[in-house]
Amino acid sequence: MNENVIYSDKAKELQAIAKEIAESHVRPGAAKHDKAQEYNYDAARACAEAGLFGTWIPEEYGGNGAGVLALAMVVEELAKADSGFGVAFAVNALGSFPILLGGTEDQKKLWLPQVANGEKFVAFCLSEKFAGSDAGGLAVRAFDEGDHYRVCGEKKWTTNGGVADIYTVFAVTDPESRSRRLSSIVVEKGMEGFSIGKVEDKMGIRTVPVVETVFDNVMVPKANLIGGKEGMGFKNAMQTLDYARPGVAAQAVGAAQGALDYAMAYSGRRRQFGKPINSFQMVQKMLADMAIKTEAARALVHSVAATVDAGRASEASKKAAMAKCFATDVAMEVATDAVQIFGGYGFMEDYPVAKFFRDAKILQIYEGTNQIQRMVVARALIKEAADLEHLAAYIPFEEQSTFTEQAAITGS
Ligand code: CAA
Repeated sequence: MNENVIYSDKAKELQAIAKEIAESHVRPGAAKHDKAQEYNYDAARACAEAGLFGTWIPEEYGGNGAGVLALAMVVEELAKADSGFGVAFAVNALGSFPILLGGTEDQKKLWLPQVANGEKFVAFCLSEKFAGSDAGGLAVRAFDEGDHYRVCGEKKWTTNGGVADIYTVFAVTDPESRSRRLSSIVVEKGMEGFSIGKVEDKMGIRTVPVVETVFDNVMVPKANLIGGKEGMGFKNAMQTLDYARPGVAAQAVGAAQGALDYAMAYSGRRRQFGKPINSFQMVQKMLADMAIKTEAARALVHSVAATVDAGRASEASKKAAMAKCFATDVAMEVATDAVQIFGGYGFMEDYPVAKFFRDAKILQIYEGTNQIQRMVVARALIKEAADLEHLAAYIPFEEQSTFTEQAAITGS
């Protein structure tokens, strides 16, 4: 991959800004914010002032127009310092993509500039207690009440809930329909009946709140129906995930690189048997494998992000799932190895790698479990296999004999 071709000057500039903010505003307080489970407003303000929230938003809506690849580069830098802050940032992309991809011109002009300049934070409300992987099986309802929808029910695991001002909510508008059951609707902080329920006490990514969001007969103006058309919610959510998964994959690359960097800094100083432990071949193998996997994940994420930016939607879905799955598995493996390299110290919370290990686990679960990603990839492969029919001529399939078929049925 030729770096100069795929990385625009704007993307490189935003990446450099993110790196600077990560070192000045994110890393120093990462352990403190993690322990207290508090949002890092200081770092978020720094990102807003530097224009980073406009990374994925086109210029005509007040953003930088730098795209999903630039988003991945920015998220990686932030996540390297604190994976929790990486998602606290990236979830604004996840929450605003439904508007960007499916909104009317008026809706884009209204909300996207507020996101781009960091004035408003966003959350994405898809999952519910009984609908996680089965995103089509939602229960939250939006009843048609003339010029409003009355939204009722509860969402689960809303990342950024409480901090966010804009919530893109997926709700059932036509329970009888299979493919047009859902609509996407913007609910805004302060609307009567909308509140934050349980705030989760989490294993990792403790810098960002994950909450239940409660919709108690919230009257939402019809102008907030994304795209102005009912029944588009499921497709809108799926397209959004295609665009957002490279971001979560980049968070994973950041987490892996961050853990590897600490492992490098530690293993060069930690001495056993009279030598730094990075001089032992078994440690070297671990470090080399960690670096190889991280670099491979980064290359895949960047290539997928470039595909998304090129608007190649038919390829984007499969590749985004590949990148999310691969990079997040890598993050878990690399963070686990980083703990191993730190030995007993790695298990202690005063050392930074325990947090990387805890933060990594959710990456394999949210924005679609890695089992779902593999299913998306396999479904796409099976569809594409229609183009490989000509290869059947080269496979000497054995004819199944009537006798064998009979034996399979009767067992004799
Ligand atoms: N783009 C556009 N349309 C798509 C699509 C895509 N990527 N994927 C599916 N569709 C369309 C299909 O073409 C189909 O359309 P028709 O009805 O017109 O034929 C329709 O949507 C239904 O598709 P499927 O039959 O494939 O749907 P399914 O019920 O089998 O579900 C799934 C597919 C991939 C499993 C989906 O439910 C899924 O992605 N689940 C995981 C949900 C998820 O990722 N949740 C994460 C929540 S966000 C989060 O975690 C973030 C956070 O906190 C930070």
